[in-house]
Amino acid sequence: MMKVLIVGSGGREHAIATSVAKSKKVDKIYCAPGNAGIAQLAECVDIGAMELEKLADFAKEKKIDLTIIGMDDPLVAGVVDVFEEKGLRVFGPRKNAAILEGSKAFSKDLMKKYNIPTAAYETFTNPEDALAYLENSEYPIVLKADGLALGKGVLICNTKEEAKNGVKTLMLDKQFGSAGDKIVIEEFMTGREVSVLCYCDGTHIAPMTSAQDHKRAKDGDKGLNTGGMGTFSPSPFYTKEVDEFCHKFIYQASMDAMKAEGRDFIGIMFFGLMLTEKGPKVLEYNARFGDPEAQVVLPRMKNDIIEVMEACIDGTLDKIDLQFEDNAAVCVVLASDGYPESYEKGKLISGLDNFEGKDGYYVFHAGTKKTEEGIVTNGGRVLGVTAKGSNLKEARANAYKATEWIGFENKYKRNDIGKAIDEA
Ligand code: AMP
Ligand code: GLY
Repeated sequence: MMKVLIVGSGGREHAIATSVAKSKKVDKIYCAPGNAGIAQLAECVDIGAMELEKLADFAKEKKIDLTIIGMDDPLVAGVVDVFEEKGLRVFGPRKNAAILEGSKAFSKDLMKKYNIPTAAYETFTNPEDALAYLENSEYPIVLKADGLALGKGVLICNTKEEAKNGVKTLMLDKQFGSAGDKIVIEEFMTGREVSVLCYCDGTHIAPMTSAQDHKRAKDGDKGLNTGGMGTFSPSPFYTKEVDEFCHKFIYQASMDAMKAEGRDFIGIMFFGLMLTEKGPKVLEYNARFGDPEAQVVLPRMKNDIIEVMEACIDGTLDKIDLQFEDNAAVCVVLASDGYPESYEKGKLISGLDNFEGKDGYYVFHAGTKKTEEGIVTNGGRVLGVTAKGSNLKEARANAYKATEWIGFENKYKRNDIGKAIDEA
């Protein structure tokens, strides 16, 4: 039997832990640092996700058989290399492959070089050049900080004025620190968005069922960009034809490109896609499970997650028959009112036990903390309430019903998660 360590503390890591707990191969789960929900399945240890050496030392001391890295920052910082140097087995891309998420300029250049469909773009390190470029551009236009910025370093600018302010925000005011030393300015695309998460073993790539996120804070896709306010899976717009095109020209092409660059990608390659009139194009890559995408995709996966992850590490993913349930799932995020700007924490959460023993219903913890009074809110995104259904409409009705089981003082949610289902 195996001991597994999961690194991270969000709803994604709770969803991963829930899948790992179902594995026949695992009898002990640790999570660093974890949260109050994960603590029901795993022993949480007080090591931060960016304490790379400490994490590896812990894994060595506890004889951990497999470590799963949930979050992007440690991956981009090279946590996998640190583990491998100590002879530890770990699931996730090495630093030289995690750059696919860590640098938007890198990912855009890769796509250009290998003809992977994406928006036209230019890269800038000098704000004067960026401002000059904006003089003769078409609007709207999209500005992206090169580095990691909690999913908030992307600015959609409707006018030249807005775009010039955007260059100032990213490159001069350094709102996202050194992430804005370099920026990508790219063509604005329209269409349906879809997220596809794929297992990768360096050579083979296996796409999971599709999902759609809702990034804006408010109903009708208004308000600021967030980490994600809810998801549904599968996407009705992700047809068989789209899947076939993507598999060949985007997924496998991306794997092959990374291999050709000497950057074998092992772990989860996450494709943010835009289904445009001219076919699917890549919006962005991530190097880990999406959050809250993982909260609708993993509950539908039939395979033993440990078997799949081990196949990725061993280069035998082609031997795995990845299977998903023929149903649907919807996740509605319960946040603290005011997220992603300012919000209060420490509010007592009621109703969590309503989920106990209810098949097809999940309450994944994101920002929660255990105190003497009970479990309290401890972040912007607090919980992900996921429900399955035989189809998307049923899953959505179930998920919204289950959001009513939970109470906390400044509970906030979007009321239109899965609205696109009605347009399919
Ligand atoms: P990203 O972090 O690159 O996925 O960008 C965040 C969000 O900004 C995406 O989910 C899209 O909604 C939007 N976005 C990014 N790039 C573009 C683009 N070129 N055209 C239109 N929307 C975009
Ligand atoms: N939900 C989008 C992400 O995880 O980046």
